[in-house]
Amino acid sequence: MIYACVNTKGGVGKTTTAVHLAVMLARQGKTLLIDGDPQASAASWAAWRREAPQYEPSPTTTCLAGKAILSEGKQLATGFQHVVVDAGGRDSIGLRSALLLAQRAIIPVGASNLDAAAMTDLLEVVELAKDYNPDLDVRVLLTRVDPRTKDAAEMLEFLNEQQLRVLPTKVCERVAFRRAIGEGATVAEIGRDPHAIAEIEGFFREVTS
Ligand SMILES: Nc1ncnc2c1ncn2[C@@H]1O[C@H](COP(=O)(O)OP(=O)(O)OP(=O)(O)O)[C@@H](O)[C@H]1O
Ligand SMILES: [Mg+2]
Repeated sequence: MIYACVNTKGGVGKTTTAVHLAVMLARQGKTLLIDGDPQASAASWAAWRREAPQYEPSPTTTCLAGKAILSEGKQLATGFQHVVVDAGGRDSIGLRSALLLAQRAIIPVGASNLDAAAMTDLLEVVELAKDYNPDLDVRVLLTRVDPRTKDAAEMLEFLNEQQLRVLPTKVCERVAFRRAIGEGATVAEIGRDPHAIAEIEGFFREVTS
């Protein structure tokens, strides 16, 4: 299965979601993580991970840009059981290529009016991709949620109106996620926040089934 974490909005948790997914998939089979963002955050995470051999398994990580995400990504994917693309946070050729390569698109979204407003642009790009990739399966993940507010419930209502499939698990704003990424690890490998671990494991079950 080829997954792509996409959103035209930055800072929503695409890279955090992509690297966690890639490590969990790597436990099940040979996994390729494609960093499709020129900022190369997933590649930085992978480099930190190489310095910490206690964290394993590791997905094979490569950086691709623009159209190569589709052309080279397609070729590389044949050697792997699972592929995860971390797409850049803009409407770019890279993002469009990722949506053509992917079988399943994961859209991490925050729960704010700004996130909702930004969805309109993204949904246009997703609809366009579906003309060429009609089987693309789109799933939305609510991320960086503040459980003290009603923002997530309001966002959920908005997403349902857009007839988007939203994964039941919500990932909350938790320090553990920031720490894990900075160490080239996952929240489970750091092992300090059971809530973060439960959320990401819930996400994994839902996104892979
Ligand atoms: N659930 C979370 N709880 C706390 N911090 C988070 C969470 N998810 C992501 N972050 C932090 O928010 C920032 C943005 O996350 P991330 O890099 O995953 O988003 P992104 O969508 O890939 O951003 P970009 O558009 O810059 O590529 C990072 O500092 C990350 O550590
Ligand atoms: Mg990123």
